[in-house]
Amino acid sequence: MRTTVVVGAQWGDEGKGKVIDVLTESADILVRYQGGHNAGHTVVAEGKEFIFHLIPSGLLHRGRVGLIGNGVVIDPEALLEEMGRLEAHGIDVARAVKVSDQAHVIFPYHKRLDLLEEASRAGRIGTTGRGIGPCYVDKAARAGLRVADLCDGSGFAEKLKRAVAEKNRLLKRLYDEPPVAYGELLERYRGYAKRIAPHVVNGARFLQEAMAKGKRVLFEGAQGTLLDVDHGTYPYVTSSNATAGGACTGAGVPPTAIDRVIGVVKAYTTRVGEGPLPTEFPADLMEEIRAKGNEFGATTGRPRRCGWFDAVVARHAVCINGCDAIAVTKLDVLDEMETIQICTGYRDPAGGGAGAARTIRDFPSDIDCLARCEPVYESLPGWCRPTGEAEGFDELPPQAQRYLKRLEALLGVPICLISTGSKREQAFKIGRW
Ligand code: GDP
Ligand code: IMO
Ligand code: MG
Repeated sequence: MRTTVVVGAQWGDEGKGKVIDVLTESADILVRYQGGHNAGHTVVAEGKEFIFHLIPSGLLHRGRVGLIGNGVVIDPEALLEEMGRLEAHGIDVARAVKVSDQAHVIFPYHKRLDLLEEASRAGRIGTTGRGIGPCYVDKAARAGLRVADLCDGSGFAEKLKRAVAEKNRLLKRLYDEPPVAYGELLERYRGYAKRIAPHVVNGARFLQEAMAKGKRVLFEGAQGTLLDVDHGTYPYVTSSNATAGGACTGAGVPPTAIDRVIGVVKAYTTRVGEGPLPTEFPADLMEEIRAKGNEFGATTGRPRRCGWFDAVVARHAVCINGCDAIAVTKLDVLDEMETIQICTGYRDPAGGGAGAARTIRDFPSDIDCLARCEPVYESLPGWCRPTGEAEGFDELPPQAQRYLKRLEALLGVPICLISTGSKREQAFKIGRW
């Protein structure tokens, strides 16, 4: 298997960073294909914790190359900061980090608009405030500036001038806000351009040439399926395609070049930001799992909302992404639970017509329906034993094995990797994966 896509199969923060770090053992090139520094992917290795935001999470392994693909939106300041941290970690960043010339660039006005739009919205989304949405709006409106524009010495000034003039009209007329200072911005971004230029490549060509030479490529999804702008809980989503299809458009590789897709799920569910979360825990259990799982955002530090594993959600993700297998993380967080619940369907109290209830097994695309749905649970006994030292499936307590087998049956795909702690060593693969 030469090309693998790893995607989040819930609402993000499934532990994709950890899974990518483990799988990088058998990869040469790592690719981010969408999102921006709204992502926070944590790797705990060699006694240290490293949080990746824009750079692919496998780069702590020596000798790998990471590409930030055309589908990503890049805040140059965040990118340079992350490159600096990697360099301090002993990674040869000059060789290891490549940036697509077609990726769009985030400017401070995107961030300001993100915050202003959020404040004026009737129903908040709870964005990360990083300017991600407004940058993708400019991309779709054909008004954005790309890395190639940023690095286009003489042409950049004129392009930025036009963009700033338009944003200043918007800031003044719609929000009665002070303008962006063009001259200062130009100088700042010219400085970034000088430092980023040596990393810039034609991303699609770079990948296609590498694949022709037999290099093994790992595509790293950011966010998760339920945050995908098309297939998630719209409008409570991010502004990109976090699903597997995004790897093709966001990196410039054809669908026929993808060999396999791995979906990452937590052994329970979390979400950060607003929007429905059908299996959300009551307050006491929320506190307990949040503390055990250290469920605080890797990017914004916000407390994550937690709930039981939702098989309706995960099945939806398996279908949309065409997952060949799933990786289950954070099993250890459930170690002390006496009983564990799995949501296998939803009861829609008003969905059956004439006010009658009905049970739904497929993920509804109607957000109002999802918001009023009540989960239907199946209970399984917990294992009440630590799992953090297990090195194989057979070493897990029988109740944990039963829980995982039940997830496989509900999702219809095998589990290829299990993680029982945040450290690199606390994970094992199952079978030929
Ligand atoms: P990502 O965005 O999908 O990469 O996930 P995050 O890094 O935002 O959040 C996952 C968190 O769980 C991080 O703090 C990881 O270090 C941690 N983590 C990953 N796998 C495990 C695991 O199996 N057990 C525990 N306890 N923590 C884990
Ligand atoms: P990783 O890659 C969890 C959420 C935000 C908000 C919504 C839109 O670490 O899994 P945005 O700033 O993208 O416009 O915010 O999406 N969100 C994430 N939630 N993990 C992430 O990334 C997220 N990136 C964005 O909280 O609800
Ligand atoms: Mg995260």
